[in-house]
Amino acid sequence: MRLILVGPPGAGKGTQAVHLAAHYGIPHISTGDIFRHNMKNETELGLLAKSYVDRGELVPDSVTNEMVKDRLSHADAQAGFLLDGFPRNVLQADVLRTVLAEAKTPLDAVLELSIDDAEIIARLSGRRTCRNCSASFHTIYEKPAVDGICDKCQGELYQREDDSEAVITRRLEVYAEQTKPIIAFYSAQGLLITIPAVGDVTEISSRAIAALSAAVVR
Ligand code: AP5
Repeated sequence: MRLILVGPPGAGKGTQAVHLAAHYGIPHISTGDIFRHNMKNETELGLLAKSYVDRGELVPDSVTNEMVKDRLSHADAQAGFLLDGFPRNVLQADVLRTVLAEAKTPLDAVLELSIDDAEIIARLSGRRTCRNCSASFHTIYEKPAVDGICDKCQGELYQREDDSEAVITRRLEVYAEQTKPIIAFYSAQGLLITIPAVGDVTEISSRAIAALSAAVVR
């Protein structure tokens, strides 16, 4: 399965990606997680990314495209992958199409998570993320067993810098202006599947798997 997950900030891409990647036995490749990992380790890429991520702007395509090309060349991505947060504009989508066409490994589907702005704000303002393993929790919807501690690895939970109200607003603008056009791009190629991303996390995963089973003929 070669799959892209697309949707606005807070749609639940990271949450669903964990379930879908496990179901299909494919690696979950999140450009946001790769940037945050580099930011935490203060690498050259991390320092550059931070100046964009903290403002809710996209990291330049030249940097992001090379990073994804490199990640897709790893052995674990040869039998399939789930991309979360990439592509984020039509130029990135075009680069990905070329890379996959050269490797003769076309996409199977693009799954869009659909959700309204009020729910996005509620999800992002309560999100807590593990510093160690990047797992997502929520102060109301998905509470960890112990406050401030990750259930999975006991790492510290923190609030992302880009989850402040002002930056969320900017991220939503960037999504509407730059990312939304890729929906039409993939729809025109017959790859787009849209599902409502509201309800229980496991219910949404089942909805996603059912929609993918119906649409992807292997
Ligand atoms: P990225 O990390 O990709 O952020 P995003 O797209 O804004 O998405 P989020 O991680 O905020 O949300 P999500 O959809 O994964 O939701 P989640 O599952 O956490 O990117 C961050 C930044 O990196 C970008 O702004 C940009 O600067 C840079 N970047 C990344 N990729 C780039 C690219 N390709 N090009 C250039 N720059 C790039 O869920 C949110 C919350 O809701 C959680 O608390 C969760 O527990 C809760 N939740 C999830 N599902 C449910 C549910 N069903 N019910 C109730 N609560 C739920």
